[in-house]
Amino acid sequence: MWARHDRAEPGAGATVADDSAAGPDRRTAGPPNGRRGGRPGGRVELVGLTKRYGDHEAVAGIDLVIEPGEFFSLLGPSGCGKTTTLRMIAGFEEPDAGAVRIDGVDMSRVPAHRRPVNTVFQNYALFPHLDVVGNVSYGLRWRKDLSKSERTRRVADAISLVRLDGLERRRPAQLSGGQQQRVALARALVLRPAVLLLDEPLGALDAKLRKALQGELAALQREVGITFCYVTHDQEEALTMSDRLAVMDRGRVVGIGSPRQVYEEPMNAFVADFLGVANLLRPDGAVPTAEGEWEVRLGAFRLRVLGTPPTSSPARLVIRPECVRLLPPPAEGENVVPAIVDEVVYVGAVTTVVTRLPGGATVQALVANREPHPWRVGMPVAVQLPAERLRLV
Ligand SMILES: Nc1ncnc2c1ncn2[C@@H]1O[C@H](COP(=O)(O)OP(=O)(O)O)[C@@H](O)[C@H]1O
Ligand SMILES: [Mg+2]
Repeated sequence: MWARHDRAEPGAGATVADDSAAGPDRRTAGPPNGRRGGRPGGRVELVGLTKRYGDHEAVAGIDLVIEPGEFFSLLGPSGCGKTTTLRMIAGFEEPDAGAVRIDGVDMSRVPAHRRPVNTVFQNYALFPHLDVVGNVSYGLRWRKDLSKSERTRRVADAISLVRLDGLERRRPAQLSGGQQQRVALARALVLRPAVLLLDEPLGALDAKLRKALQGELAALQREVGITFCYVTHDQEEALTMSDRLAVMDRGRVVGIGSPRQVYEEPMNAFVADFLGVANLLRPDGAVPTAEGEWEVRLGAFRLRVLGTPPTSSPARLVIRPECVRLLPPPAEGENVVPAIVDEVVYVGAVTTVVTRLPGGATVQALVANREPHPWRVGMPVAVQLPAERLRLV
């Protein structure tokens, strides 16, 4: 995990140092309570939110609550309705049914520019003829209630918050992609919204810069303490940055929780699959045997599974590749199944070993490359699926 930026001067709206938010792992720290500037609040409530285009339901009745100060992500494949949801929160799109409430206020009659919300788009939408200051202050053009000196101060604060000091007079064409992205962020933050909506804001950047900016953005969110609603189709991005996330499929929320919850205890096969849980086995039968314990039939083998599935008729058996153990055969022990090594793929720090079970199903295992491993294609292997790591969905 990344460290927060240490800043000599507090940036826009940042008034009090809040060390409680600087945990080593933001995901264990929970939503931050100590707000540091901006408006209080930022609670977003979606109630039965629905949008149709013709007879296509782009958003099919979403219910969720985003808590004040939370870094919340909407994660899902292209076309699942993420942008449409965000646009309804922003007020660019009118719902066909349902409501958006912000801090308890129904937004249906509140036009976009009066909502306590601002949006950062993937394509930045910067003005090419304006420099950094011009672009950032553009956001304040309607705020006639602010004095000139107050505006100047806010613009300088926002620029320093995204660490663009010294580049104030550059135009977008004279900035890197990452710097342009920061201008777009500063322009949204200068208005001090209660909620910042971000639609795949790092999508246009290369992988390395993306990684760096993910860390910066998460740290920035901590620093300003406002609610972030972040849209992405990148599961790793959502898992590393968010306090909580909602996984979307075809206009619906199909799973919601902390990154750990959705990754380690996926609610259904879609969530498990989308989050990159490679091993989704189709059991030949599953019956409860004791409180919090199930027996699963996999061909001729019987596996013990600990935990209670989220459904009474589970259809898939899930295990993450890093939890699968490979043992030299013949091996004794619980949940050990014989298999053949089908594929060995070196991926740097780890090797992916694909094994084939007698029934034909494949199980992937991740083997750390700390030391050489013996697995070669065609070798027999004993695959152990630890009961506490298996999950029925
Ligand atoms: N203005 C529009 N007119 C018709 N269909 C649209 C419009 N905007 C989005 N859609 C459709 O609605 C669905 C959801 O789109 P969108 O919210 O952009 O998905 P995402 O952002 O998750 O990729 C898609 O099938 C898309 O084609
Ligand atoms: Mg989109």
